[in-house]
Amino acid sequence: MGEYILAIDQGTTSSRAIIFDKTGTIVSVGQKEHEQILPRAGWVEHDPAEIWHNVQEVIGLALSRADLTRHQIKAIGITNQRETAVVWDKTTGKAVYNAIVWQDTRTQDIVNRIAGDEGVDRYKEIVGLPLATYFSGTKIAWILENVDGARERAEAGDLIFGTTDTWVLWNLTGGVDGGVHVTDVTNASRTLFMDLETLEWREDILAEFGVPLSMLPEIRSSSEVYGYAEDSSLLRETPIAGILGDQQAATFGQAAFYAGESKNTYGTGNFLIFQTGEEKVVSKNGLLTTVGYKLGDAPVQYALEGSIAVTGSLIQWLRDQLGLINEAPEVEVLAKGVDDNGGVYIVPAFSGLYAPYWRPDARGAIVGLTRYANKGHIARAALEAVAFQTRDVLDAVNADAGVTLTELRVDGGMVANDTLMQFQADILGVPVVRPVVAETTALGAAYAAGLATGYWADLDEVSENWQEDSRWEPSMPAEESERTLRLWRKAIEKSMDWVD
Ligand code: G3P
Repeated sequence: MGEYILAIDQGTTSSRAIIFDKTGTIVSVGQKEHEQILPRAGWVEHDPAEIWHNVQEVIGLALSRADLTRHQIKAIGITNQRETAVVWDKTTGKAVYNAIVWQDTRTQDIVNRIAGDEGVDRYKEIVGLPLATYFSGTKIAWILENVDGARERAEAGDLIFGTTDTWVLWNLTGGVDGGVHVTDVTNASRTLFMDLETLEWREDILAEFGVPLSMLPEIRSSSEVYGYAEDSSLLRETPIAGILGDQQAATFGQAAFYAGESKNTYGTGNFLIFQTGEEKVVSKNGLLTTVGYKLGDAPVQYALEGSIAVTGSLIQWLRDQLGLINEAPEVEVLAKGVDDNGGVYIVPAFSGLYAPYWRPDARGAIVGLTRYANKGHIARAALEAVAFQTRDVLDAVNADAGVTLTELRVDGGMVANDTLMQFQADILGVPVVRPVVAETTALGAAYAAGLATGYWADLDEVSENWQEDSRWEPSMPAEESERTLRLWRKAIEKSMDWVD
């Protein structure tokens, strides 16, 4: 009877449970999408009850598809969309408001108020982040300021906060009957409230945001036993032993553990993480300083991150809002039908621009249109926008780190798109490399849980599982890549000029 690790990946568009064996190979998958609630321009919400329901369902699906019982699951790892905030009543288990998703920009006024005269970098040295709507702390403040009675209930100690790792863990370990209220250092590093040196909540920053300390989960490492699945769960008595925010998990799943190693994930957005080891590098070029991971009592490992809000969700926009395609993969078919972008550039600044610009006021732009432009050019420009944004982030990483990356490890849904990957290599001027197991996010959470419970002995054993699948070499003449990059930068300027 074999033993396995089950990873729960609570993502932006769906929740998944994936079972892995010792070689890091996928044994089975359960997946369910949840509703994207879009009440107003710039607002994005999820229903926390739906998410928890789906998580239970996908665990059942993964177990039954592999024909496994809970006794064969050695440990559970959790990974999650990171800055999405849930506030719930610990006496009823009910959320007081929908989860406010990381892409949501409603907290801009709170950001402006707290930035005041000191500006958005007010706490950057301490927390590694600029003040921005992206981070979960601004969303907790919004709920306390806007939901009737929330502040009083929070001050009375009834309301607690969590990102979706914490929400899933609390429910999985018993909810109102003793649920464990814990998060890991990587998720905590995305709130705006954690001191990157002490790994503790900063009471002065919390006071500035008007958030009571009693609402916050305990901060723990990314790899240790936090608790056990409760009695009525399909996985009862199984230890939950790993938590990593999804981008850090993907880095871990790529076996990029050490300073100088990195990965780029192509999901709803794109996230490039570059490990800096025990050294905390504060970016001068628009990157975030974040926690890479922390294994039990071992020293914390830091990272630099380039976050891009809109990449895969641009393709969803072409499908859902414009009706240009019926299924996401059709974008590649359309793009292949034309020789080039026909002079068209798309800047998908739907949530403003994140790294390296951090311009909340930027708005999406399609520029360079002529009567000649057709669907194929739009599709191609959308794919190219993904690659151009990654180039901007990579330039910032190279400048901050003082080294030049020699190749880029990639993962996520869009890495199946050959046209995009080739253009990415062309526009970066370095090879792009995809591993055999491209589900690196769930794999990273599985590794964290398996390392805490002795399923894998150490990082070396885990590294042996990494295998190259495909490699794209740059082939575009320099003159051409320089010209197209120059035009991209002009398009970016246009999107930043667009002020209401
Ligand atoms: O920071 C946001 C990120 O964690 C969301 O990732 O993969 O759910 O789009 P994803």
